[in-house]
Amino acid sequence: YGTTGVNGKGNLEIGGVDAVELAEQFGTPLYVYDVSLMRERARGFKKTFEEQNVKAQVAYASKAFSTIAMLQLAEEEGLSLDVVSGGELYTAIAAGFPSERIHFHGNNKSREELEMALEHKIGCIVVDNFYELELLKTICFERNETISILLRVTPGIEAHTHDYILTGQEDSKFGFDLQNGQAEEALITALRIKHFDVLGLHCHIGSQIFETTGFLLAAEKIVGKMNQWKNTLNFEAKVLNLGGGFGIRYTSEDEPLLPSQYVSEIIKEVKSLIQKYSMEMPEIWIEPGRSLVGDAGTTLYHIGSSKEVPGVRKYLAVDGGMSDNIRPALYQAKYEAVLANKPLAEPTEKVSIAGKCCESGDMLIWDLPLPETEDDDLLAVFCTGAYGYSMANNYNRIPRPAVVFVENGKAALVVKRETYEDLLRLDLPLK
Ligand code: LLP
Repeated sequence: YGTTGVNGKGNLEIGGVDAVELAEQFGTPLYVYDVSLMRERARGFKKTFEEQNVKAQVAYASKAFSTIAMLQLAEEEGLSLDVVSGGELYTAIAAGFPSERIHFHGNNKSREELEMALEHKIGCIVVDNFYELELLKTICFERNETISILLRVTPGIEAHTHDYILTGQEDSKFGFDLQNGQAEEALITALRIKHFDVLGLHCHIGSQIFETTGFLLAAEKIVGKMNQWKNTLNFEAKVLNLGGGFGIRYTSEDEPLLPSQYVSEIIKEVKSLIQKYSMEMPEIWIEPGRSLVGDAGTTLYHIGSSKEVPGVRKYLAVDGGMSDNIRPALYQAKYEAVLANKPLAEPTEKVSIAGKCCESGDMLIWDLPLPETEDDDLLAVFCTGAYGYSMANNYNRIPRPAVVFVENGKAALVVKRETYEDLLRLDLPLK
């Protein structure tokens, strides 16, 4: 992917930097991000909208990977930002991200979080439910301030992905149901509140989606309602936010479309619906997370112990695991990997890559073809840029790895490795 290749020494190279040298300099486990690939992805999304002359915002879903450097990169590339908590908002503000380009999501935003959003005059709040509608109204009245909102609706679409990352189906904790009148009731309520500028509607149907059908169906249902509400409520949505969820290729079994293909099919569908109903073209907003950063990330591990179960399999353990990548344990996610110090060596056996956590389910990859390994070989697991660091944890009091950005032959440390002292930072003694 991107600038990942093999250098003259026969080592894996990312962004022009030798992966073996990265491991020596920064230690392992190490998250390495190919910055130019992230830029390419961001530009790809934006360019498709520009070429089709469609007003748009491409909002990076920062839950995929939120750090100061990452959000500064997103700002440099002209992206907007989706945050889902006070902590993500705080990170965005600390990164100097322009607040008018921040959109605030979440199905249970607290009073403090909503006040924080108003304090920083963020671009819009994506209101998820009736409780939030009331709470936000109260806060706006108290402060006598106006806020732009989108209403998150649930279009009743079943996208084909893992159950835990499905969000657009009817029976979901997110959003106002579009079919049963909830969304209409929410809209009527919101339109009566003078402190709200209702920009439009939002939906997110799921994650790691390989086809456009779900997006097109969602667009069809929502634009249909928009047409109805234009006639009955005199409400014209300025914004249609179709969320994120564009899939990436983790292994050769995955067959995602290109970012531009997702976007151009969505645009085509919305344009034709708009024409059919003789409506004004709304701005189209999207919220890619995984597809902006996922395949730009590689995790480097040192290989340590091994165990043979005769006639069954060989386990090879690495110096990280479910503490830095919980996705295999949580979603049965699959990854591909090579030895960073001999990426071209012919595989001679299949091995299963175990993490070091005290849990049998802590397996990163089953049956990975690898060449003969020696002590201190380095394993590079690809496509770990999304929901790796952001879901990392301290299970077994394992410090979280460092994060390095590489671009044009240069490496920059952007998140320090956690230390044992860091682990104790919040602990207080018994007496
Ligand atoms: N917008 C909204 C409202 C979302 O809920 C999400 C993801 C996104 C955008 C970005 O979706 P993406 O483009 O990254 O697929 N932890 C899981 C993924 C959970 C996604 C939750 N929402 C994983 O590791 O696969």
